[in-house]
Formats: sequence, C-alpha cells, structure tokens
Amino acid sequence: MKLLKQKILNEGKVLSDTVLKVDSFLNHQVDPQLMLNIGETFTNLFSSEGITKILTLESSGIAPSTMAGLKLRVPVIFARKRKSLTLVDDLYSANIYSFTKKETNEISVSKDYISSNDTVLIIDDFLANGQAALGLLDIVEQAGASLAGFGIVIEKGFQNGGNLLRERGIRVESLANIASLSNGKVTFK
Ligand code: G4P
Ligand code: NA
Ligand code: NA
Repeated sequence: MKLLKQKILNEGKVLSDTVLKVDSFLNHQVDPQLMLNIGETFTNLFSSEGITKILTLESSGIAPSTMAGLKLRVPVIFARKRKSLTLVDDLYSANIYSFTKKETNEISVSKDYISSNDTVLIIDDFLANGQAALGLLDIVEQAGASLAGFGIVIEKGFQNGGNLLRERGIRVESLANIASLSNGKVTFK
C-alpha cells in the first residue's frame, strides 16, 4: 500500500535494527483517513471470504480493524489484555509471550462474540515474532470458527511471525512489509 509506505518513510522513526516507531499515525496519535484507506484495502483483499467478524488485540489493532469492519459491515472484537470487571462470562483465553517484554500475558475474548458459525478475519498493527498472532489464532480455533486470514498493517519481514503463519497455509496480507531496519533506514520487501 503506497500511501502507508510513504507515511512510514516520512514519519516512522527507526529506533534500532528491530524496532520502528510509528506513534504519529498508528500507535499513539491515529490518522483516521489513513485508517479508513487501510480498512478499504483489507476489505478489497478479503471481500470474497464471507467474513462475519473481525478479531484484533487492544489497543493499536482497534483503529484499523474498526475501519475494516465499517467497510465489510461486520462487528469488530478486540481481545483484552487485562481481565475486565464486567467480563465475567465464559471466556476463550490464550497466553502470549512477548520477546520484547520477556513476559507472558493472557488475552481473552467472551464466548458471546465468536462461535463456530463465524468466519473471522484477524487484523493487527504489527506482525513481528508472531506470538500475538498465534494467540489470536488459538482463540479462533477454540471457538471452532473458520479463519479467513490475517490482515497486517506493518509486517517486519525479517522476524519470524510471517513464516510461522504462512507455513501453516494461512493467508497473510501485509500492507507494508519491511525487509530491514538496518543503518537507521527502512527498506521494504
Ligand atoms: P511479538 O512476539 O508479537 O513479536 O510481540 P512483541 O513482544 O515483540 O511486541 C510487543 C508489542 O510491540 C506489541 O504491541 C507489538 O504490536 C509491538 N511491536 C512489535 N514490534 C514493533 C515495532 O517494530 N514497532 C512498533 N511500533 N511496535 C512493535 P502491544 O504491546 O500489544 O501494544 P499496543 O497494541 O497496545 O500498541
Ligand atoms: Na502495538
Ligand atoms: Na498490536
């Protein structure tokens, strides 16, 4: 997606060989027009898949997912990282190990919102080592739902998450795929 890549080149900050900061449009401040374009792009890519729900993870997955849900006309569910006071129903849950934070966190989704009748599109802001992606996939499997695939805003193609998913035969569509962040420079695949 040309507009997204341009935004990354113009506003992204390479913090190290592995970390890209995109706080000005995705992870802190949000660019609604760009999010709408992202939602439209995911909709075009997945329109023939019979999607009934979008699943993402709080917090940065919510903006692009909501725009995709608007265009696909389906509800958006965000997995929660902290147990909510009011989330007392039966839950699907999965453990996610974070390589950066070196800790495991539980994510959860109420059983009210995904069932075996659903076809789910999983959307997230970043695909890095894929632990969050595998946790979301686990939840779709627990629900017995069908998976249409993954819509990823920014894939770090030099990390292993994309391989982990694609080698299982899962469709992964990344709108920007970064080959390298070496020498303070963003290079796309
Ligand atoms: P991983 O195993 O999935 O690779 O996760 P990791 O622990 O490496 O990443 C933890 C958080 O950092 C996740 O967001 C993930 O989306 C994000 N992340 C990973 N690599 C990058 C990067 O290069 N740039 C940016 N900006 N984010 C990255 P999170 O903690 O769930 O935060 P949020 O969704 O609340 O924003
Ligand atoms: Na994030
Ligand atoms: Na995220």
